[in-house]
Amino acid sequence: MASNEIDLGVTCDMHVHVRDGAMCELVTPKIREGGVSVAYIMPNLQPPITTLDRVVEYKKTLEKLSPETTFLMSFYLSKDLTPELIHQAAACKAIQGVKCYPAGVTTNSSSGVDPNDFSSFYPIFQAMEQENIVLNLHGEKPSTLEDNVHVLNAEEKFLPALKKLHQDFPNLKIILEHATTEAAVNIIEEINKGITDPQDVKVAASLTAHHLYLTVDDWAGNPVNFCKPVAKLPNDKAALVKAATSGKPFFFFGSDSAPHPVENKSKYVGVSAGVYTQSFAISYLAEIFDSLGCLDKLRGFVSTWPLNFYGIDEKDLKCKKKVVIYKKSHLVPIAITDNKDIAVVPFMAEKRLNWSVKW
Ligand code: NCD
Ligand code: DOR
Ligand code: ZN
Ligand code: ZN
Repeated sequence: MASNEIDLGVTCDMHVHVRDGAMCELVTPKIREGGVSVAYIMPNLQPPITTLDRVVEYKKTLEKLSPETTFLMSFYLSKDLTPELIHQAAACKAIQGVKCYPAGVTTNSSSGVDPNDFSSFYPIFQAMEQENIVLNLHGEKPSTLEDNVHVLNAEEKFLPALKKLHQDFPNLKIILEHATTEAAVNIIEEINKGITDPQDVKVAASLTAHHLYLTVDDWAGNPVNFCKPVAKLPNDKAALVKAATSGKPFFFFGSDSAPHPVENKSKYVGVSAGVYTQSFAISYLAEIFDSLGCLDKLRGFVSTWPLNFYGIDEKDLKCKKKVVIYKKSHLVPIAITDNKDIAVVPFMAEKRLNWSVKW
């Protein structure tokens, strides 16, 4: 391999929204174009995915659109799930996890759960713990005026609930998805204190690419950069970058790439939350890791640690080819479009990125 090439192994993005319909046709092939081999797919369609038939059908649709991508699938935590369904889905390897959305905090989360009281879901969590099915937490408390909960402290306010879940289900694999705060990084560090074998990690945080770049100033006034959880303060961003480049097995990549049609991003009320990063996922990361002189840590972040946490078997991969990044700059276009109905504005549109991907 040339000296300006880096082998990243089998790359993973453990938090991906590909929607359905025409948007799905547009963005699903971009997973591979962006340098990702294994994608963990979010279930927040309308209606959310809560049945075996639908998750199997959705996976088939995605595999047709991108045959070389390995799709890992999830259920949406709701009253529709039962422990029996978890056992059944695990037995046929239909799902690898269950995503928990607090009701009302983000896109299509109206059928979510009350994060102040998870107790009615304990039988589900117990089944998941037995089957080694991952619990993916959207870790935000819903905003309320009475309790002074708002977008800037919603994640921090959620953290005690994460700790309690881990105490009550010490063998349940839990991911705090798209962590955005120094407080979250600290609690993940604290929970993992003393763990030396990566196999023993039970609680991890996924980190997006865009939260390694953005702070509040970047989305206040720019709806393209608006997502949930919102990007926080400079010290928070610094903590996320440090975690991502730390080489620790409990921080790994989940882009939360969340495409919305440009019309839904450019209205003055009800702007959709979500930053679209799929088309250049690995390049955004390489840029940051390179700027810190930490490119040697990128493979752990996008390959070793996510594969380890989810326990992915090599024989279940659709494509075993390694992804290589090499130094060649390219411009992020102003829109990703199917030239018919849909245009999505990508993160860092019209900016130059220094690393490209090949297989
Ligand atoms: C879309 C919707 O609700 O129809 N959400 C949104 O614009 N906030 C669906 C979607 O997110 O894909
Ligand atoms: O910004 C976000 N967009 N956060 C989420 O949790 C959901 C996502 C979406 O589906 O658009
Ligand atoms: Zn989420
Ligand atoms: Zn998401």
